[in-house]
Amino acid sequence: MILFNQETKTFHLKTSKTSYLMKVLETGHLLHLYWGRPLKSENLDYTVRRKDWFSFVANTDNIDAFHLESKEQEYPGYGSTDLRSPAIELEFADGTSATDFRYVDYKIVDGKPALEGLPATYVEANKEAQTLIITLTDKVKNVDVELSFTVFEEYNAIARSVKVINKSADDVKIQRVLSANVDFKDSKFEMIQLSGSWARERHIIRTPLRIGGQCVESRRGASSHAQNPFMALVRKDVTETNGDVYAMSLVYSGNFLANTEVDMYSKARMQIGINPFDFTWLLKAGEEFQAPEAVLVYSNEGLTGMSHTYQNLYGKRLMRGVWRDKARPVLINNWEATYFDFNETKIKEIAKQASEFGIELFVLDDGWFGERNNDDRSLGDWFVNENKIRGGLKKLVDEINGMGMKFGLWFEPEMVCPISKLYEAHPDWCLHIEGRTRSTARRQLILDLSRKEVCDYIIKSVSDVLASANIEYVKWDMNRNMTEIGSAVLPAERQREVAHRYMLGLYHVMDEITSRFPNVLFESCSGGGGRFDPGILYYMPQTWTSDDTDAIERLKIQYGTSMVYPNVAMGCHVSAVPNHQVARITPFATRGISAMCGNFGYELDLTKLTDEEKAQTKAQVAFYKEVRELIQFGDFYRIQSPFENNETAWSFVAKDKSEAVVSFFRTLAVPNDNLATICAVGLDADAIYEDMRTGKLYGGDELMYVGINVPDKVVGGIAEEGKELFAGMPSPVIEGDYAAFIWHFKKVNK
Ligand code: DGJ
Repeated sequence: MILFNQETKTFHLKTSKTSYLMKVLETGHLLHLYWGRPLKSENLDYTVRRKDWFSFVANTDNIDAFHLESKEQEYPGYGSTDLRSPAIELEFADGTSATDFRYVDYKIVDGKPALEGLPATYVEANKEAQTLIITLTDKVKNVDVELSFTVFEEYNAIARSVKVINKSADDVKIQRVLSANVDFKDSKFEMIQLSGSWARERHIIRTPLRIGGQCVESRRGASSHAQNPFMALVRKDVTETNGDVYAMSLVYSGNFLANTEVDMYSKARMQIGINPFDFTWLLKAGEEFQAPEAVLVYSNEGLTGMSHTYQNLYGKRLMRGVWRDKARPVLINNWEATYFDFNETKIKEIAKQASEFGIELFVLDDGWFGERNNDDRSLGDWFVNENKIRGGLKKLVDEINGMGMKFGLWFEPEMVCPISKLYEAHPDWCLHIEGRTRSTARRQLILDLSRKEVCDYIIKSVSDVLASANIEYVKWDMNRNMTEIGSAVLPAERQREVAHRYMLGLYHVMDEITSRFPNVLFESCSGGGGRFDPGILYYMPQTWTSDDTDAIERLKIQYGTSMVYPNVAMGCHVSAVPNHQVARITPFATRGISAMCGNFGYELDLTKLTDEEKAQTKAQVAFYKEVRELIQFGDFYRIQSPFENNETAWSFVAKDKSEAVVSFFRTLAVPNDNLATICAVGLDADAIYEDMRTGKLYGGDELMYVGINVPDKVVGGIAEEGKELFAGMPSPVIEGDYAAFIWHFKKVNK
C-alpha cells in the first residue's frame, strides 16, 4: 500500500513487514525519513531536525542552519549543497555538472509498469503491487528524474528504478545514474557482500563499516565471479534468525557499483546501480534514459528473513516462463566426462547409461559445432560438426529421445574466435578499438552486441539450430570479460556507452530467443557463476552455479548463493574424483548430498562408474526425484555455516511445513569428537514427523529444539543407526573426512 499524507507531504510505502517513508520539504527537496519495521503513522516530522553545523558545509538556499548534507536524502545530486557520494551526476552543454533536483509531483498506479528493454520484477495481477512515481526536476537545466517505487506488499519488497528525462533543448551527458540510494541516520552496521573468483564464487564476507567509502563493483563487462550485484547492511547483532538487515540487489548483469559511504558525521549512505566507471550516456533533447531496477529488502528476522524475501520474489516474480514453476529435470552433462574428446557413439553410451539411472536430460556441452576440437576456434560458427556427430544433430537428438531422455545443447552465442568463419566474414563485429591489440581470453573475442546486425545474427543462428531438432534445454555460456571496449559503429561521444549498450543488446537477444522457444529450459552460465545475477534470471530460470564441482568447495558457494537466489536457480552436479578443480577426493555419497542443493545432475563419465557407484547413482536419482519439489521450491534454511565451522548444515522445508530435508556435512574428521546433533528449522512445532529412513517419529519441537542425532560410530566400529540412508548408499555413519548425511522428514497425520 502507498499512502500520501497531504498535510505533512509524506509518502508511506507499506509492505506486510516494512515501512518506508519519504517527505517533501518546503524547499522541494525529497527527504528519506525511515526504512524499517512497520509504522502506523505518516507523521515523522519530529525527526526533521536542524543543527547549526560548525563546518565548511554550505547552507541550502542560504537558509541558516539548513544543510542538505546533514539530511537523509532520497536521491541526491552533486554540486549544490550535498557533497557526499551522489546518486546522479550530469554534465550539461555548458560543461558544468552541479544539479539540484526538487519535487514536482507524484502519481500512484496499480501494478507495476515494465522497464523497457530491461529485466525487472513483475506482477501477474495489478493487485499484487502499487507503484509510486515521483518526479523531481532541475529547474535551471530542465532535466527531470522519475523515481519509481513498486511496493510488493505480500512479498515484502520494494523495487526501485530511475528514469532521466532531458526536457531541455541541449545535450546532456549522464555521468552517473544509480538506481537506489538510502541515507541512514547512523553507521552502526556491518556490510555483507558476496565475493570471490572463478571456481570460488559468492563467498560471504562480513566486515564492519568504517568512515569513508566502501564498495563492491564490477568493471568487467559482466556482474562477474569477483563480486555480485548485492550489498546488505546489518546491525552488529544480526544472526540468521534475528536482527535488522537492509539489502539492495541490482537486476542487472553488467558493470555495477554497490557503495556505502560513511560521512564525517558517521552516517551511512548506501547506493547501488550501473557502475559510473567508464560509463557515460548522451541524452539528446527530448530523450529518456531508464536505469535498471534495484530491489530493496528489509528484514528484522535476520539473514534468513532477507533471503526468503529475495528467493520468493525472484523465484515467482522475476523468473518467467513455463519452467518457472515446473520441477526441473535431473541432467547428465558430458563436459567433465569427455571435454572436447567425443563422438556420437561416446555420447550415446553415456546417455544410455544415464537413462538406465533415471536421468531425464542429456546435455551436450562445448565441442559439437564448427571445427571445435579444443578451445582455440569456431565460436560463432553454429553449425554441427558432422565429423564428430555423424548423421547430424537431429539423428542424435532423436536417438536420445528414444532412450526416454530430453536433449539439451551448449552455446556460447556472445563470442567469436579469430579462427572461425564468422570472424573471417565480419572481423569488425567484435568489441575492439582501432589500432589496439584485440586481447583474447580462451582465444576468443566478444561480439559487439550494441550492434543490431550482430544481435540479429545471434538470434538467427541459435534459432536455426534450436528449430532443427527437438532440443529442449539450452546451456548459454559466456567465458570472458571485456577488454578494449569499443564499437566500430558508434561515434566518439558514445563509446563509453558500449558496455551498457552491450547489456541492452544481450537482453534483447535473450528475450527474443527465449520467447521464440518458450518451452525450452534455458540455463545460463558464465564459466560457472560469472553472471549469476537477477538480470539473467529474468530470461533464464537457472544458472550453472560454479565450474567448481568439488562437493566441499560447493558448500561455501551454494551457501553464499542462497543469500539472494532461490535454490531452483542453482545448477549442482556430481563429478568425478580426484575433482578436476581442486583434486580433492570425496565420497560419492557426499558428492550426491552436496549436489542435492538445487537442480541436481551429473557431470562425469557414467560408463566408468564402479558397480557400487552405479547403484548409488540410481538411488540418488530416485531419492532426489522424491524430494525435488521440496528442494527446488521449498524454503531454504541455512543452519550451520561452512565459513565458520567444520560442520555445515542446511535444510529445505515445504511451504506448508509438511516435509523437510536436512543435510549435514563434516569437512574434516575430528578425533575423539563429541556426538553431533543438528537442530532443524522452520518445522511445525506441534506436528509429528517421521524420519523416512528409520520410520522413527519425532515432534517438530524435538527436531527443532532438541536436535537430530547425526549418526556416528559407537565403540567397536558399529554404526549407531544401522540402516542404509536410502538404497545403494553406504553405511549411514559420519566417518572420515568429507562425510555427509541427509534426512527426509514427513509430517504424519496423528
Ligand atoms: C565453461 C562452463 O562453465 C563449463 O561448464 C563448460 O560448459 C565450458 N565452459 C565449455 O567450454
